[in-house]
Amino acid sequence: MNAKQLKAFWNLWKKETGGTGEPRLPRHVAIIMDGNGRWAKKHKLGVSLGHRQGTETLREIIRHTDDLGIEALSLYAFSTENWSRPPEEVAALMQLMLDFFASEIDELCEKNVRILILGDKSALPDIQRSTLIEAEERTKKNTGLHLNIGINYGSRAELVKAAAEIAELVRSGKMAPEDITEQTISDHLYTRGQPDVDLLIRTSGEMRLSNFLLYQNAYAEFVFPETLWPDFTVEEYDRCLAAFGQRDRRYGGRTETKEEKQGEDKA
Ligand code: FPP
Repeated sequence: MNAKQLKAFWNLWKKETGGTGEPRLPRHVAIIMDGNGRWAKKHKLGVSLGHRQGTETLREIIRHTDDLGIEALSLYAFSTENWSRPPEEVAALMQLMLDFFASEIDELCEKNVRILILGDKSALPDIQRSTLIEAEERTKKNTGLHLNIGINYGSRAELVKAAAEIAELVRSGKMAPEDITEQTISDHLYTRGQPDVDLLIRTSGEMRLSNFLLYQNAYAEFVFPETLWPDFTVEEYDRCLAAFGQRDRRYGGRTETKEEKQGEDKA
């Protein structure tokens, strides 16, 4: 992050939280980039131009996430259900993927970013499949930001795949059923080795998970900005991050207020 961005983030942090300490950032942010179609309609443009503008937002958000030193960013670019959209729209999204990797891969590599595609690449057209595999291969030894991009991704399908892999381990005698733990499931998801999602952002005012990282989002904090994805800015992203910093994460437990604690001490 450059000095100007850092100062802006700090000022926002202090204003929103009154906090003086280190901003508490999520380790893993997941984003459902929603509202491209509505943005295009609002500007009397074709839907593919909405997706193109959305890709510009995507570039900025990736850069900023990396600048902030966040460990993992998961983006929902194309779900298993998106194949049912009009063929011209599917074709436009497929082309955008190629354009995105052609223009970004060198910079991402330079920034030590690790690219991981969440989803079944085998159903994609050859050129998209080989481009995605190449991006993963080129960046697999990197040690910086985990950039996960959901393409032909569905969380239920991911869980079915994990169940089948674990069942195979049991069938071949490599694992006993009683040794299956929550960690075993995590270890068979695309995101294995990464922290669970801490913050989920879905733009455009919609409040659904839409089959995105169901297992990984178990304890995530949710933020639903009204802004359509192509209009979503780095400043608004910072506000979502600041909102996360203010949340009281209890993981099903209970945190005492200062007053409750003082009451107990006196008793
Ligand atoms: C949802 O908006 C968005 C999508 C289905 C696609 C998101 C993809 C990108 C922003 C870029 C493509 C990916 C890469 C890797 C470059 P919507 O069209 O459902 O919006 P609406 O609800 O307003 O119609």
